Amino acid sequence: MKIITGSTSKLIGEDLSKSLNFQKVNTKIKRFPDGEIYIRILDNIKNEDILYIQNTWPDLNIIELLLMQDSINLAGANRIITIIPYYGYARQDKLFEKGEVISAKSLAKLISINTDVVITIDPHKNHILDFFSIPSYSISAIEDLSNFFKNKNLDLILAPDKGAVDNVKKAAKIINCDFDYMEKTRIDGYRIQIKPKNLDVKNKNIAIIDDIISTGGTMAVSINELKKQEAKKIYVSCIHGLFIGHAVKKLKLAKCDEIISTDTIISNFSKVKISNTITKFLKSKNFLIR
Ligand code: R5P
Repeated sequence: MKIITGSTSKLIGEDLSKSLNFQKVNTKIKRFPDGEIYIRILDNIKNEDILYIQNTWPDLNIIELLLMQDSINLAGANRIITIIPYYGYARQDKLFEKGEVISAKSLAKLISINTDVVITIDPHKNHILDFFSIPSYSISAIEDLSNFFKNKNLDLILAPDKGAVDNVKKAAKIINCDFDYMEKTRIDGYRIQIKPKNLDVKNKNIAIIDDIISTGGTMAVSINELKKQEAKKIYVSCIHGLFIGHAVKKLKLAKCDEIISTDTIISNFSKVKISNTITKFLKSKNFLIR
């Protein structure tokens, strides 16, 4: 088996090729002046099994993924396993209003054309796996994120809304502390409200865990609420750190103590590596044996 890393996922690709002892396939990826992408596979991959890693965010990377999958196929690979550490568009996972499209489904249809298997990390909702027409799996990075907090002396883990409570429940069990959730209402893409709720946070060390930090709105409002209720230390963390626009500035202004994310998307806050979890998963499913 050989590895092809897309431009969003070079570090995970590097880590996986070392831990699995797989050779990396040389590729050439460049952009034309008009922004269109050029892709070429430089090595012979005929009859090889290929592990291909690439995010579907931001949009430009979707085209890279689709073209690379097609190139791998055209080059005569035997089997393609596509790993999508961050599956962008997963939040449009159902019809919210008449006339919309289920973007997560449209994308899944296209991705399924040129792959045998898809694996993604903590998709926003697990039912998006059903949108693929080939076998598809999700891996959870919650254990990796929780391990980061083991020596931080946490008293409580919080979910910013009820929907994220399963993750904090798992984390609290690993860290051996309490968990709770806040009550969030989203007004629009940028504005969030957290309903005042009495949480037992006074003088406590808290970690908030969410699947995604995008504009940072959810976390900033959550930090403000916790500060009002006199929490001691506040860590904000997520699996997928998008940190759009002024997200980091917002979080720093709200005065959290630390920002933590996994490396599904590379940023200054990618402090938690997920390659070991991917390796374990691939081995457990016997994907690496032909
Ligand atoms: C929403 O359902 C997600 O779980 C996150 O809470 C959300 O994407 C965070 O977005 P933002 O950082 O823009 O508030």
